[in-house]
Amino acid sequence: MASEKIDILLLGAGGREHALLMKLAESPRAGKLYVAPGNGGMLQIADAAPINQENPAEVASWAAENGIGLVVIGPEAPLVVGVADAVRAEGIACFGPNKDAAQMEGSKEFAKQVMARAGVPTAAYRSFTDREACEAYVREVGGPIVVKADGLAAGKGVIVAQTTDEALAGVDECFSGAFGDAGATVVVEEMLEGPECSLLALTDGTTVVPLATSQDHKRAYDGDKGPNTGGMGVYSPVPILLDGELDTMSAIMQKVVDQLRADGINYSGCLYGGFMLTKDGPKVLEFNARFGDPETQVVLPRMKADLVETFLACDNGTLSPDMVNWGDDWAVSVVLASAGYPGSYEKGKVIHGLDEAEARAGVTVYHAGTALDKYGKTVTAGGRVLDVTAVAPTFEEARANAYAACDLIDFDGKQFRTDIGLKAILGRENL
Ligand code: AMP
Ligand code: GLY
Repeated sequence: MASEKIDILLLGAGGREHALLMKLAESPRAGKLYVAPGNGGMLQIADAAPINQENPAEVASWAAENGIGLVVIGPEAPLVVGVADAVRAEGIACFGPNKDAAQMEGSKEFAKQVMARAGVPTAAYRSFTDREACEAYVREVGGPIVVKADGLAAGKGVIVAQTTDEALAGVDECFSGAFGDAGATVVVEEMLEGPECSLLALTDGTTVVPLATSQDHKRAYDGDKGPNTGGMGVYSPVPILLDGELDTMSAIMQKVVDQLRADGINYSGCLYGGFMLTKDGPKVLEFNARFGDPETQVVLPRMKADLVETFLACDNGTLSPDMVNWGDDWAVSVVLASAGYPGSYEKGKVIHGLDEAEARAGVTVYHAGTALDKYGKTVTAGGRVLDVTAVAPTFEEARANAYAACDLIDFDGKQFRTDIGLKAILGRENL
């Protein structure tokens, strides 16, 4: 029966997964909800499944034994090791690409080759496994240039070098094992210039449904200063797009999915396109094989869709654009982080004011690095602690409301950027 409830297992523990879980829970199709490992917010509405999310056999057999009807994979690590393949092999629906398709994120070299075959614009690049050849190439081309460790490096394996010396230091870091195995192959690429824009798209391997645009803030401090982080805040939609840019980005996503299919790879799940809006048009910076974090925390609350039905349709090849609709509202999300992040930080600080913040109309606080202590109190448990998100009819209202809610929340060492979304107000020339 189409309206039957199904039990769902969601893998992951971040703000992205809390947002996914809340949207899944809204669906009339959602039965029991399980998470592995989950966080302090997720465990208030779902039960913990005692499994390692990165072990394909363990996830698949637990799902089978517990009558799970849909497994939703949040982060990249389980995708890249083939958790989706193992779940599907049990005959269980899964949201997230199989191992071969997840190489779009797992290997920059693989993604670049797909893009080349699909005729999709991206930065020119060369890839090296030999350190001396790589250094010689960097010296020949010179800075500014971008050096990337191939493979997953938790967002840290990218060195945007203004000078040749910085680039050589980056090459040294990659080959000396700073990013583990991810640095065994090094990609050196042309530096692109312009504002960045993220576009998430749902796909069943054939039909591609682009979601709303969003823009992350990757640097730790105001004014885009300081080290790169997982993302300190985000807003949606991106109001500074020029005519045709969204169509170009959407067409690029479709071309990539079509190319993969032509190559014999069915990509189903979320494809995340990271774009640079250059003066020659949008160019791809990278693809990810999953929803963005924190992009999901502003895209999902704006989306009108039955997420369970939509995810099942991605898995079984029946996705259609009319399953996803949008209103005219805006969303802004500000990350509250632990003092010291993205470097070392303390954990276990009690978080106050969550109820007061969430009592504000339009505000949702997604938990990222939180846990419940033995008294059931919510405490900090990670670098990025909370995503304080507001949805409102205007951008200014959403932004003001998100920051008002941030002021109501307190924990020892709370730090956040005060300029999230200002770029949207200042206009394109200031991005
Ligand atoms: P990634 O981890 O691949 O998302 O890269 C992190 C960040 O590095 C991106 O969000 C960009 O800001 C920057 N970046 C990556 N590749 C390039 C490039 N080819 N040109 C300029 N900036 C880049
Ligand atoms: N917000 C960047 C990412 O999810 O990779």
